[in-house]
Amino acid sequence: MNSSDQVWWKNSTVYQIYPRSFCDSNGDGIGDIPGITSKLDHLKTLGVDVVWLSPVYQSPNDDNGYDISDYRAIMGEFGTMADFDAMLAGMTQRGIALMMDLVVNHTSDEHEWFRQARSSRDNPYHDYYIWQESVDGREPTNWESVFSGSAWSWNEATGEYYLHMFSPKQPDLNWENPKVRAEVYDLMHFWFKKGVRGFRMDVINLISKPWLADGTLPDAPVVQNGFFQPAIDMVKHGPRFMEYMREMRREVLDHYDSITVGEAPCATVQEARDITHPKTGALDMVFQFEHMDLDCQSGQGKWALKPLHLPDLKASLSHWQSGLHGQGWNSLYWNNHDQPRIVSRFGDDSPAYRERSAKMLATCLHLMQGTPYVYQGEELGMTNVAWPTIDHYQDIETRNMYRVATQERGQPPAWVMRSIHAKGRDNARTPMQWSAQAQGGFSSGTPWLAVNENHTHINAEAALADPQSVFHHYRQLIALRKQHPVLVRGRYELLLPDHPHVFAYLRDDGIHRVLVLCNFSGEVQDLPCSDLPALKGAFALVGNLPEASWQEFQDCLQPWEARAYCLAPMVPGPNG
Ligand code: NOJ
Repeated sequence: MNSSDQVWWKNSTVYQIYPRSFCDSNGDGIGDIPGITSKLDHLKTLGVDVVWLSPVYQSPNDDNGYDISDYRAIMGEFGTMADFDAMLAGMTQRGIALMMDLVVNHTSDEHEWFRQARSSRDNPYHDYYIWQESVDGREPTNWESVFSGSAWSWNEATGEYYLHMFSPKQPDLNWENPKVRAEVYDLMHFWFKKGVRGFRMDVINLISKPWLADGTLPDAPVVQNGFFQPAIDMVKHGPRFMEYMREMRREVLDHYDSITVGEAPCATVQEARDITHPKTGALDMVFQFEHMDLDCQSGQGKWALKPLHLPDLKASLSHWQSGLHGQGWNSLYWNNHDQPRIVSRFGDDSPAYRERSAKMLATCLHLMQGTPYVYQGEELGMTNVAWPTIDHYQDIETRNMYRVATQERGQPPAWVMRSIHAKGRDNARTPMQWSAQAQGGFSSGTPWLAVNENHTHINAEAALADPQSVFHHYRQLIALRKQHPVLVRGRYELLLPDHPHVFAYLRDDGIHRVLVLCNFSGEVQDLPCSDLPALKGAFALVGNLPEASWQEFQDCLQPWEARAYCLAPMVPGPNG
């Protein structure tokens, strides 16, 4: 960790690869490591500095690699350790740092630790996991796992329940046990010594379970009818969380010039400040979720749809921008392997506006303060899919939710499918669209998940050849961050907070100022120019329409238009 504005990851852009869906080199329909190696020039051309690689470790794939059975082995379907080394060398050659996914809130139930742990209460590994006696013959609490059903599963051999915040095949580790923490630090050193530069830490703010520290094990508050209630709030940011994080920093992170980001569901700005504070924190940044929860009904979970109200998005992102300025660091993201495609979500994926709205969304995000993350295919403006029935879907979260909703809660299948089309994780997991060829050039075999039919016109080959493409717009934004230090260090100020369709903000480092104007609608929006800084002496920084039109329509924004200006520099006075 380093408090200076000069640290390398502050002007870097990270690209996320979901290996199963990126590129298949051997025709088995599953993306693999040699496939990634073959596409490194795509990343180089885009200009990204870091790759975050979703898990490639050995796994039975109950949750596509987020259930790890050996942290030091590569999943057979993805290749070998030699393939991994070759990929890492290829990245290093191109000046791209590699960030691994560290999934240590839980392991797979097929990990040797859990096999041992579940065999008897006396086994030395038993205390690596979290066990509870039954209460009145059933689960100890009403907690529901993220993937539906109770967060507790019964283990016959020991006659107890074990905790799993996700699937029963993902038992939670017991971080109270110092041996567990030592194992984690050890495996982090293993990967650092191989040359990786950092970690994205899966649901890291769930590792300290409050009742293990303070002895009370309460039910979750009942928010809907039914027995099980979401458990995340019961276990997030527990009392020993920061202690564990600082220990990890001391034991591991302080020994390397690393980049770290902690996934932190339900985190508040204050918690993020604690985690990322340059002096007293432990990680460089977190993934917060507030802005991803604005298009669902409050307290009802992600599947309960609600249209986005732009002022909510502005208020949320601005709160994070101001809240972490000088006291932490933001990650900036619209997309990852758990979220639907942003152009289909907050933009307009129809032929008329797909490219323009994808560029607008990128502009709006990338000019904020923080480290931007680009998820594979986002740079092409890839879209959601809407398959007719649940059989087309593979994701464990989606399939479980569908079963519970339709079979146990009596919800109409068509209504549930609507939520899946909007929010399902497979939207982001359809194979990367490399070309217009069969299977989008992803595989010569049958892909594990269908390729989006629109690969015939949305694909990397076409995007690279078109100077006006979404890809080249991302390339421009990534380069701008390096050319204009104000984008890294400047203060953020929201303008027009109540405007229902225009997202406008200023970045300002005391000398340089950048004005960003984004239209989040399909209609022309007049700009209340008297509420905006004067444009005299300003020059165009970046936009998604030809610059000539900026002059013509200075006082309005075209549908889905984005424009950023460098305002005339503020000349420092005699006292600096
Ligand atoms: C968050 C990951 O991003 C998600 O894909 C996974 O299912 C859960 N954590 C459990 O590891």
